[in-house]
Amino acid sequence: MKKIVKLAGIDLSKEEMYSKKLLRAGIKLNTPPVCNWACPYCYASSPELQKNLKEEDYIRYKDANWHLKMFKWVKELKKVGLKAITINGMFEPLTSPKLKEVINFVYEENLAITLVTNGVLLTDELIEFLKSKKVSILTKLNVPIVEKDSPLYNDVIEIQKQMTGLKGNAEKIYEDQKNMIKKLIVGLLLAISTISCAKIFWPIRN
Ligand SMILES: C[S@@+](CC[C@H](N)C(=O)[O-])C[C@H]1O[C@@H](n2cnc3c(N)ncnc32)[C@H](O)[C@@H]1O
Ligand code: SF4
Repeated sequence: MKKIVKLAGIDLSKEEMYSKKLLRAGIKLNTPPVCNWACPYCYASSPELQKNLKEEDYIRYKDANWHLKMFKWVKELKKVGLKAITINGMFEPLTSPKLKEVINFVYEENLAITLVTNGVLLTDELIEFLKSKKVSILTKLNVPIVEKDSPLYNDVIEIQKQMTGLKGNAEKIYEDQKNMIKKLIVGLLLAISTISCAKIFWPIRN
């Protein structure tokens, strides 16, 4: 039998792990239809979407009470065994004004929380808040962690820049992300970096 991976903040028996119960559900936060990154593989950077955005889209939240509906559904799901929530968004969840309210609610409901984010807007104050609510973070770096004296460094920072879709200084983009991830590790939050695209680019480059 496969070894059971232990998840932070969620304590499951073997029976629960292998039951067909719904143990984790997702909350999609209501965010503006734009992102502070423009990952080339994501619809958020689609020229069609960008072209059709109107000024009011940047500040409009489609349904201001969306989170309240989610709260009702979460309470219902708890009755059938829900243990954990993943907080995500169609775009970047940290841009949602309801982020803390949603996290407070999920925490009060005794559910384990995972937050999916590119991490750019994680301030020290927000990290402390997330730590106090035992939130695990799923964030991303599309390349390996290397230091400036590595022969890979110049390639790595360029690839990371391309994968974020950001304009600007490649070294700063890479170092900011790397330092954010290191801070999360030191802060004892679970940081998982997804090396999703390095495998695609490496053979092309070499
Ligand atoms: C849409 S993002 C929202 C959360 C946050 N902005 C982030 O990127 O982590 C949620 C997840 O969808 C993934 N994603 C984006 N575009 C995708 C695509 N075209 N196919 C599969 N996953 C994608 C992202 O890598 C991320 O893990
Ligand atoms: S950070 Fe997330 S939402 Fe933003 S462009 Fe990248 S995948 Fe899409």
